Amino acid sequence: MLSIRHVSKVFDTKDREVLALHDVNLDIEEGEFISFVGPSGCGKTTLLRIIDGLTEPSEGEVIFNGQVLSGVSREMGFVFQDINLLPWRSVVENVEIGLEARGVEKSERRRQALEALRMVGLEQVADVPPYTLSGGMQQRVGVARALAIRPKVLLMDEPFGHLDNFTRETLQIEVAKLWQQLKTTIIFVTHDVDEAIFLSTRIALFHSNPGRLAKVLEVDLPHPRWEFNVRADERAIAMREYILDYLGVRKDVMV
Ligand SMILES: Nc1ncnc2c1ncn2[C@@H]1O[C@H](COP(=O)(O)OP(=O)(O)OP(=O)(O)O)[C@@H](O)[C@H]1O
Ligand SMILES: [Mg+2]
Repeated sequence: MLSIRHVSKVFDTKDREVLALHDVNLDIEEGEFISFVGPSGCGKTTLLRIIDGLTEPSEGEVIFNGQVLSGVSREMGFVFQDINLLPWRSVVENVEIGLEARGVEKSERRRQALEALRMVGLEQVADVPPYTLSGGMQQRVGVARALAIRPKVLLMDEPFGHLDNFTRETLQIEVAKLWQQLKTTIIFVTHDVDEAIFLSTRIALFHSNPGRLAKVLEVDLPHPRWEFNVRADERAIAMREYILDYLGVRKDVMV
């Protein structure tokens, strides 16, 4: 469905060139839940932005349903790490933004935005200003905003990075349920190895300097995963150990 071919990205800054991504190749199947995991600065956000068309690759291309992508994709929804809801718009008006940009007519826009809010359990706060919501609720609004356009692919960049553990685990289960219900392809960036194991069908591991795709792992655990204790599962524990070793996380820890 989605094919990333020989994608490289060089950023030209005033004093130097940064090779953010080097020759990334990856095929993503329809309906997959794939996570990008790797150290800070390995190019995860850059790759997500290239997939969405927000950033141009320096080399290579992204092919989506047989066509080379150019410009911002209309069929992908993006959940940013910093949700940045507009304070002068109500919750539902924030969710309507992507629909507005796509020229959807007003009453239809409202209907689809309310439906997206219902999916994340927030229809009752549709008319309040976003700053009256908790951090977890605001993050859910960000998910609703991306879902409102009924994306073929949902791109999520560390969506729960700022949240406390409680809220984070609740939202992980909600995203897993949404994925099962909607069968949307999801590409999810996270620093959190347990989160990646809980959610994903595959995990792509990245190395930095230069940013590159190092390995792709299948997560061989049954679904739905909220019905058993994934963290305590032996296969999950072995996988977490493998990933942490592979990424050299322990070697970097200062004693
Ligand atoms: N617009 C930009 N201009 C210059 N350099 C950039 C730009 N965006 C990213 N970079 C550089 O590209 C590299 C990859 O950045 P990117 O944000 O993709 O990493 P990341 O894996 O998402 O990191 P994190 O986990 O901290 O979010 C970094 O070295 C970063 O400084
Ligand atoms: Mg990032």
